[in-house]
Amino acid sequence: MKLPTRVTITEVGPRDGLQNEPAPVATDTKVELCERLLAAGVRQLEATSFVSPKWVPQMADAAQVMARIPRPAGSRISVLTPNLKGFEGALAAGAQEVVIFGAASEAFSQRNINCSIAESIERFRPVAEAALANGLRLRAAVSVAYGCPYQGEVPVESVVDVSRRFRELGCHEIGIADTIGVADAGRVQRVLEAVMREIPADMLSGHYHDTYGQAVANVLASLQVGITRFDTSIAGLGGCPFARGATGNVATEDVVYLLHGLGIETGLDLDALVDAGQWISAQLGRRSSSRAGNALAAKRERREEARADAVSIAS
Ligand code: HMG
Ligand code: MG
Repeated sequence: MKLPTRVTITEVGPRDGLQNEPAPVATDTKVELCERLLAAGVRQLEATSFVSPKWVPQMADAAQVMARIPRPAGSRISVLTPNLKGFEGALAAGAQEVVIFGAASEAFSQRNINCSIAESIERFRPVAEAALANGLRLRAAVSVAYGCPYQGEVPVESVVDVSRRFRELGCHEIGIADTIGVADAGRVQRVLEAVMREIPADMLSGHYHDTYGQAVANVLASLQVGITRFDTSIAGLGGCPFARGATGNVATEDVVYLLHGLGIETGLDLDALVDAGQWISAQLGRRSSSRAGNALAAKRERREEARADAVSIAS
């Protein structure tokens, strides 16, 4: 098995993770989450979305979040921008990367961004031109690449077609997204291999949700065919408001545990990620969805209890 020596993780917890939270999350909490992630070594951070607050109220404080997050050397802060209005907000807020997001199914495109796939590409064109003219990195997401909550099956050709259109817009990176978390390792490899016949692997990234518990396996399957970029979300937070029933993204802690176990560098501090994941889960009043995060936190707790017992016996 030939695997890469280094993988780039884009942490999407503050955006994909929080966008679906039913109760408002305080701006202070969002900012502290970003601070903790950056302190854990995250250098690609998807911080928020400049989308319509009527569609996604949770992201209404995008400008405030952006104004307050630190910018350590080497970090790249990205935001979602569905149209020029969003792009203008992103530029004013100092985003270094903008993300345009289309779908491989017509039905999902209508539900998520209220237009057809073809219309979405025309709407993204001025955003792409403006991003490139301003020296910003441009990333795209191809949603529902492995299945659509409204349409069901999504043909591989649709994924290839939308990816090709994003490449023509000048995207530096194209994320192939399993929005509802139905992909399996075999399908992941078939879809990625089809896309890679047209677009080089180093321009692609994997974005997996974990509804069927397959997301870590899908990361490994992607690594095996040459993908080296992944979106992950701290504590497995996440979901899309327009994809009911889909669970969170693959947890950052789980993916980093996998990658470090394979000897693959990420530049991330797993202990600090575990802390960040436990912290945000406590803030949201629930248990983290990261299996590795919970196991490592429990192990640490047992070690601390044993140390406290040893101290009390000795004294
Ligand atoms: P629309 O209603 O068709 O657009 O929405 P509109 O141009 O008619 O605008 C409606 C109102 O929104 C107007 O306000 C605009 O000014 C305002 P009003 O005049 O009624 O007061 N508006 C905006 N406000 C702030 N920022 C903006 C903006 N644009 C318009 N950028 C639109 C079309 C695309 C705007 C809307 O459908 C939208 O915002 N959709 C966002 C959906 C979204 O964020 N989905 C979740 C992210 S995608 C995702 O999670 C998938 C991903 O993780 C990968 C995967 O897993 O698949 C990336
Ligand atoms: Mg997503």
